[in-house]
Amino acid sequence: MEINGARVLVAGATGVLGGALTAELVGRGARPALAGRDRARLARAAEDCQGAPTVLFDAYAPDSCARAVACAVDALGGLDAVVTVFGTVAFGEAAVVGDEVAEHVMAVNVLAPAAFFRAALAIMQPGSMIVAFTGVVAERPQAGMADYSASKAALSAWLGAVRREARTAGIRVLEVRPGHLDTGFADRAVVGTPPPLPAGGDPRDVVRAVAEAMAADAELLRTAPDGTPLVERRAR
Ligand SMILES: NC(=O)c1ccc[n+]([C@@H]2O[C@H](COP(=O)([O-])OP(=O)(O)OC[C@H]3O[C@@H](n4cnc5c(N)ncnc54)[C@H](OP(=O)(O)O)[C@@H]3O)[C@@H](O)[C@H]2O)c1
Repeated sequence: MEINGARVLVAGATGVLGGALTAELVGRGARPALAGRDRARLARAAEDCQGAPTVLFDAYAPDSCARAVACAVDALGGLDAVVTVFGTVAFGEAAVVGDEVAEHVMAVNVLAPAAFFRAALAIMQPGSMIVAFTGVVAERPQAGMADYSASKAALSAWLGAVRREARTAGIRVLEVRPGHLDTGFADRAVVGTPPPLPAGGDPRDVVRAVAEAMAADAELLRTAPDGTPLVERRAR
């Protein structure tokens, strides 16, 4: 897709990756709308990109996700891409993490992105794109992160099926599946403390690669063991 002039909804724009990706896309000429759950953080994020329109949502309320898409369409006059870059994580052995926490992780990491994309797919034109952050745990589940791993694997599977559905409509599906990154995400877990983690990769390298993958209509971005982003034009 052509990034210059593209109307892009970034859901999770208040996060470290969301903020960095928004800045990267704006630097390439995109027109963003920013979605987040906290009014003050969202206003600060908008200041950093020339007063872009903002919309509130809470990932725990799927109707607010669909509403955010409709508001962004109104504000920008349509949407060429929707990116979900929000998420939550819980740490602890599966037997200890409670049902409520597991449900929260699934709702935020699977059902909410799906709600954004359902609303987007209903209005998007050929040549547009949906982009979702999963994570390496989608392919390599980790001990102490069963629910987080399962949520990212579930979103990855959902995207795989939707990619096949959307191809005929000319809509691309890009999954971003990075390894551990230096954003502090693990320290903001909804419950538990992270196991020892390797040094995190540089989020700036990943967001640069995401913008390039969007421009190339690629389907998958993963990171090599040394943290280098690898773009695959076609997901297998
Ligand atoms: N960092 C990594 O190592 C890594 C690796 C692979 C994949 N990822 C994925 O990348 C995404 C972004 O992570 P990050 O590293 O940028 O972490 P982050 O800075 O903590 O960002 C998380 C974002 O999710 C939002 N969020 C959390 N719960 C929400 C809810 N209930 N409703 C609405 N928004 C909610 C946060 O909003 P607030 O600003 O309001 O808190 C924030 O914008 C996540 O999906 C994560 O799984 C991260």
